[in-house]
Amino acid sequence: MSLDARTRALFALEQSQLRSPYGLYRQWREIGPVVYLEDQDIYVVTEHNLIKSVNRQPVLFSSQNPLGPSSMLAANAIAAVLADFPEEALTRATTVLNRGNVLFTADPPQHTRHRRLLNVALKRSAIVRMKPDIDLIAQNAVANIERDTYTDLNQALAVPVPIHCLAKLLGVPVNYSDKFHRWAEAINASIGSAMSKDQIREVIQDQMDFWSFFETEILSREQSPSQDLLSAIATATSTIDAPLTLSERVGFCSQLIGAGADTTTKLIGFATLALASDLSLQTKLRQSPEKIGQFAEEILRLEPPVQGMFRVTTADTELSGIKIPQGSMVWLLYGAGNRDDSVFVCPNEVSLDRPNSKDHLSFGSGPHVCIGANLAREVAQSVLVQLLSQTRWVTLAKTDQQPTVSPSYVMHGLACLNVKLT
Ligand code: HEM
Repeated sequence: MSLDARTRALFALEQSQLRSPYGLYRQWREIGPVVYLEDQDIYVVTEHNLIKSVNRQPVLFSSQNPLGPSSMLAANAIAAVLADFPEEALTRATTVLNRGNVLFTADPPQHTRHRRLLNVALKRSAIVRMKPDIDLIAQNAVANIERDTYTDLNQALAVPVPIHCLAKLLGVPVNYSDKFHRWAEAINASIGSAMSKDQIREVIQDQMDFWSFFETEILSREQSPSQDLLSAIATATSTIDAPLTLSERVGFCSQLIGAGADTTTKLIGFATLALASDLSLQTKLRQSPEKIGQFAEEILRLEPPVQGMFRVTTADTELSGIKIPQGSMVWLLYGAGNRDDSVFVCPNEVSLDRPNSKDHLSFGSGPHVCIGANLAREVAQSVLVQLLSQTRWVTLAKTDQQPTVSPSYVMHGLACLNVKLT
């Protein structure tokens, strides 16, 4: 297939490219560190060090639209449906859909203020304290999967465990997990998929439910805080920053659930697929469980749940000799940087001994680097430890050697994963 045809297939969300876009990324990288895609009007950055350099310049490369063109299409579809709402509901829905404009979509100085106020709540020691809870959630989830029959491991394990862990961390009753799942799907619904008018109405309604629930929870934690993350968000202060507004706090919860659950699900899915596709790898990891962390890093590097994030240039600029006008869309292609052979030796292989395994870009880099990376690593490792320690084999259904991925060129995850635990 020609380069143009492959590029078109990717943006047309064809499985042939979405399942493994890395050959296409390599072709782009061979053209240069920055490639202009005329049909999409996007500048794609494929080189590891250049991506990091762009991420260090958040003022010139703004995060106002990190999900790029697909979210603009969804925003237009949502706006069309909103026009049908009664006036009162319209104001409310519009606030909710704007999500407090925090972190992910904020630029300095607001973004710097958000990170200063919230970094503490998700620092490593807070997650380490939670490890016994995470292990128990993962242990029970694996124990409850029926043995010797094919099961969709996404539904049985990869979806519920991250949601359950997030609910626990936030301090929300665990029986809210189903609602969390629905809310997480509603929050992410704007990423790239086509929806009917009725589906959009449902998504808006779900997001409004989410917003009301968290407003109430945060206001109650403000009055009587406890040890959970919601209390940390409700009471976050710093000596130099104005406190977060209520809408910023709920917006932060929305991002935690939207960005934290589905991404970890995708990581667990690809890690399980790699294990089920390679029995010798399973044997190695069962014999050396201390390598499971390194294995998870390799899966993150090779199959990043977030393939790349978009930036918008706030002034005319130049990258690697390519002129980029103000207002352009720049796609930082983390999935390409992760296979840059000037940084990673034999970049397409899983190596359990790679010295720089954590240098991948799957959690981003610079000021917007993932605030939930500690949690994601802990949850994924715990699931993999349980999966390997509670089974003899994890095997893939013969009919499912090439499972399909969800229809997005930004988010990358398995639509379902039929495996058998014995
Ligand atoms: C494997 C799992 C995960 C992956 C692959 C992932 C990936 C990413 C990436 C690539 C970014 C950077 C965005 C950018 O460049 O603009 C990011 C930011 C973010 N992530 Fe994660 N993430 C994961 C898990 C989590 C979890 C568990 C949470 C919440 C507990 C979370 C919350 C966030 C938030 C709030 C941001 C925005 C940070 C900012 O803009 O300052 N993520 N994530």
